[in-house]
Amino acid sequence: MDWTSLRNEFPVTRRWAFLDHAAVAAPTERARRALVEWTDDLAANGVVTEGRWLKRVEESRQLFGRLLNADPLDVAFVKNTSEGIDFVAEGFPWRPGDNVVTSADEYPANLYPWLNLKSRGVEVRRVAIRGPRVDLDDLQAAMDARTRLVSLSFVEYASGFRNDLDAVGTLCRERGAYFFVDAIQGLGVLPLDVQRTPVDFLSADGHKWLLGPEGAGVFYIRRELVELLRPVSVGWNSVVGAWDFSTIDFRLKPHAGRWENGTLNIGGVVALGASLGLLLEIGIDIVEQRVLELTDYLCERALSAGIEVFSSRLPGECSGIVALVVPGADLKELVRRCRGAGIVVNQRAGRLRVSPHCYNTHEEIDRLVEALPRPE
Ligand SMILES: Cc1ncc(COP(=O)(O)O)c(C=O)c1O
Repeated sequence: MDWTSLRNEFPVTRRWAFLDHAAVAAPTERARRALVEWTDDLAANGVVTEGRWLKRVEESRQLFGRLLNADPLDVAFVKNTSEGIDFVAEGFPWRPGDNVVTSADEYPANLYPWLNLKSRGVEVRRVAIRGPRVDLDDLQAAMDARTRLVSLSFVEYASGFRNDLDAVGTLCRERGAYFFVDAIQGLGVLPLDVQRTPVDFLSADGHKWLLGPEGAGVFYIRRELVELLRPVSVGWNSVVGAWDFSTIDFRLKPHAGRWENGTLNIGGVVALGASLGLLLEIGIDIVEQRVLELTDYLCERALSAGIEVFSSRLPGECSGIVALVVPGADLKELVRRCRGAGIVVNQRAGRLRVSPHCYNTHEEIDRLVEALPRPE
């Protein structure tokens, strides 16, 4: 793979060493062009060329089918991760006394929708983490006969810990619980095959590792579970004959499409598809290898500068997110100072968070490490 020429696909590289994909990524040149083209076409033609863009939405759906190894019909476009989590939290047939198991340190998007179920008698069990790790035995110990669902991130946003989705999904199957994955910190950079990995529901916004604009993401639901959920926020586009407006025939689509209740964020979905097309052309396995190589390099450089790496870098546990401990540093100030030097990183949970994508370079990592304060 020619990583140097790939940089032409990323306008952000002109100004920044951009190492903050766990926050809000800069979309690819293809995504930028798709959005401009859509806006220009809409402004010039309105509904006249709508069919062309609806076709492009379906092409994006096909790409997500390929990404997840799913039937594209099992993928619905959503406005963000939270929307997909709410589809399940609000639509699940809870009974008072049921519980949901999750990790204590999940991003709030994957906690509040479950905590909101208290009034329906559902308990949320937040398993404490051990260092950077969500421990499988701890999850197992928190589960009982009333555990209906486990909800975890693919990759934990603060520590970068990559959950073993195969192991957790298998545990859920054995215990008769469903498995929800907040995939935003992994999808696009780590492979996930829903035919192989027992994931029941998944939601991910597109503005991080998938390199799309904000406000366009995906929700996946295993086909046999469609009838399990009460579809919240149904609309004209949820039904089989959606485009026949003069016939009222309330038969819901038999797949994820029923959750696309109305008009989509067409520009956003098409732009997201443009970026995903690029990632799939490279190959997600190759993207993963590159990101792990860059993050390994970052950890080596940081350690040799005396900076502690908080994230687990064990195979199967490492991801594109590296959390560094920079003792005594005012992290907000450090992030600001890095930006002043043209380097974009972030801080979460009292640590510096660095999250390179495949188009970043070893030189950019060097620049970052050189900009960090050395421990006394
Ligand atoms: C694990 C995780 N879930 C969800 C989100 C964002 O949620 P939403 O797409 O609903 O804004 C983030 C953003 O940082 C995240 O790290």
